[in-house]
Amino acid sequence: MARINENFLKLKAGYLFPEIARRVKAFVEANPDKAGQLIRCGIGDVTEPLPEAARNAMKAAVDELGSRDSFRGYGPEQGYDFLRDSIVANNYAHLGIEADEIFVSDGSKCDSGNILDILGSGNKIAITDPVYPVYVDTNVMIGNTGEGDEDGRYEGLVYLPCNADNDFVPAIPDEPVDLIYLCYPNNPTGAAATREQLAAWVAYAKKHEALILFDAAYEAFIQDPEVPRSIYEIEGAHECALEFRSFSKNGGFTGVRCGWVVAPKTVFGTTESGEKIAIRDLWSRRTSTKFNGASYPVQRGAEALYSEEGKGQVKELITHYMENARLLREACEKVGLAVYGGENAPYVWVACPEGTDSWGMFDRMINEVQVVITPGSGFGAAGEGYFRISAFNSRENALEVCKRIQANLG
Ligand code: MLT
Repeated sequence: MARINENFLKLKAGYLFPEIARRVKAFVEANPDKAGQLIRCGIGDVTEPLPEAARNAMKAAVDELGSRDSFRGYGPEQGYDFLRDSIVANNYAHLGIEADEIFVSDGSKCDSGNILDILGSGNKIAITDPVYPVYVDTNVMIGNTGEGDEDGRYEGLVYLPCNADNDFVPAIPDEPVDLIYLCYPNNPTGAAATREQLAAWVAYAKKHEALILFDAAYEAFIQDPEVPRSIYEIEGAHECALEFRSFSKNGGFTGVRCGWVVAPKTVFGTTESGEKIAIRDLWSRRTSTKFNGASYPVQRGAEALYSEEGKGQVKELITHYMENARLLREACEKVGLAVYGGENAPYVWVACPEGTDSWGMFDRMINEVQVVITPGSGFGAAGEGYFRISAFNSRENALEVCKRIQANLG
């Protein structure tokens, strides 16, 4: 009989968002009369239509594939030059990143899990708490952890608590680690990291020859001009950090799927015997073997988000979701809840009312006001006592959620 990867058996529950979907389904089945009133602010999935620039480019690309003269089969696994060049020109031209350091993919979630393929076992891994669950679960799956405890903390990981006292940016650990996951603007807390905070992390990583995996999937939501948009704005990051970026949330590509990894040539890992190996070359090798590239029409759609028309349409989307975030923040503040995030990120992170825990808040919101939120504890033990409201919604729904929060929690 085929042996399974028993690390999967250590995983505590279902992946957070399918688990929420399961509970929502159970609610709908038990309360068919209330199903129509349900508003989903759980998973951070975009709601507004795909920008016209991207749609037109994708349609044109499909037509190209329909003609013998312009047909294309397999593309370059690392991404077409037209997209890699546009990514550099629009994000990194001033930061010294080159097109052959960009690896186009089908999204950041896959990239942030797949990266473990090229990293060895035995690394000491630091993870913020609360955290995007993919970082933890993929480390569990690959065998980088021991067993989990009741709070969902896994043996062997170094947890970096993020709370209101440290503005949801973790303190530098007092022990050396090899791998650090950072996500800013942060999912789930909506916090942004300052230049000084990121510089401290880069200095720490350089001192201990650690690798930072910097997830900047929410970069487009940054409103404060002082907040860094890329880890490469920090001196020294070119020697110690990979960056993950995505078209999902800015271009509405959660269903279309496209993102990228930045792997500078100057970032190295080591073999057991101490030989230094370029991470970029390993990632490129892995990509060639395990991936056939994001689809051509999708890459054309992504490229179009950088056209003048596309940029304007992306800006409108960001403005729309950030106005939702502002409204949701205000509604929670008005009923006296402590509110964080939502200023440089599309997530509002809210302290549960006294005496209610995170899943209790989930139950209360769905049962009493038919609003789906994400329980903070689903993102890690330090998320207990909080809940996350996603600002990805129509304006009508966001306003309705505000009304229900004020009526129910006020
Ligand atoms: C979230 O709700 O945290 C996100 O949708 C997760 C993701 O982007 O995979």
